[in-house]
Amino acid sequence: MNELAKFDNEKAASYDERIAMSIPNYDYLMSSMPRYLSKFVGKSSEVKILVAGCGTGNEMEQFLLHDEKWNVTGIDPSPDMVGIARKKLRLYKNQKLIVGRVKGLPDGLKYDAATLSLVLHFLPDNGAKANLLKSIAQRLAKGAPLIVVDMFGEKDEIWQKLQLLSEILPEEFDAKTKKEMSQRILEEINYIPEERFKELLQIAGFSEPLRYHQSLMYGAWVCQKQ
Ligand SMILES: C[S@@+](CC[C@H](N)C(=O)[O-])C[C@H]1O[C@@H](n2cnc3c(N)ncnc32)[C@H](O)[C@@H]1O
Repeated sequence: MNELAKFDNEKAASYDERIAMSIPNYDYLMSSMPRYLSKFVGKSSEVKILVAGCGTGNEMEQFLLHDEKWNVTGIDPSPDMVGIARKKLRLYKNQKLIVGRVKGLPDGLKYDAATLSLVLHFLPDNGAKANLLKSIAQRLAKGAPLIVVDMFGEKDEIWQKLQLLSEILPEEFDAKTKKEMSQRILEEINYIPEERFKELLQIAGFSEPLRYHQSLMYGAWVCQKQ
């Protein structure tokens, strides 16, 4: 796993504080997800949701708050991120947290919906992105929605958006931190243009995605398992 995709120790401990400051509208993205998924899963009593790369459990908490009948499984390779999620979600009944990878989940159980938020841009586009999307698709019922949140665009466009982002970052980010962050994003994150997203989702067996949200270089799409 590349260094940027590793979320351990301090990076995990400070994740919630940092993420909400560095991704514009992160809280909105999380809190709106259950309502977007509702449109697809309806009011059926048994809704099973797979949260791939659940991190500290932020999407999971929104789903559990939204409907106490929703059954939410979160999976993430980082024990430290999952440890934080366990504490955060300990009072909710219908949740399960797993340290591991989606490909390790049994594929007999089909979920009714899935999310993949801020994970794909860490994986290289050498088969790793497509394989993760395929692993999710294999575990979804036909027609089940998938929400993907990710960084997207061409390098030049990302560079321009990073300049804009540094204007709106809170004062906790000094000039040196902003510069280092921009450099890391430009050079080490595996962002791809939206067209490539569409191709990868199609290869994995999903419908044409609809981009329903964008904050600078971060987008959110919904598509369905075909
Ligand atoms: C930026 S965090 C996103 C957490 C959460 N989904 C959110 O939106 O706040 C990225 C997460 O992806 C996880 N991750 C890294 N590689 C992964 C993989 N191959 N499959 C699933 N999750 C992965 C990391 O451990 C980390 O918890």
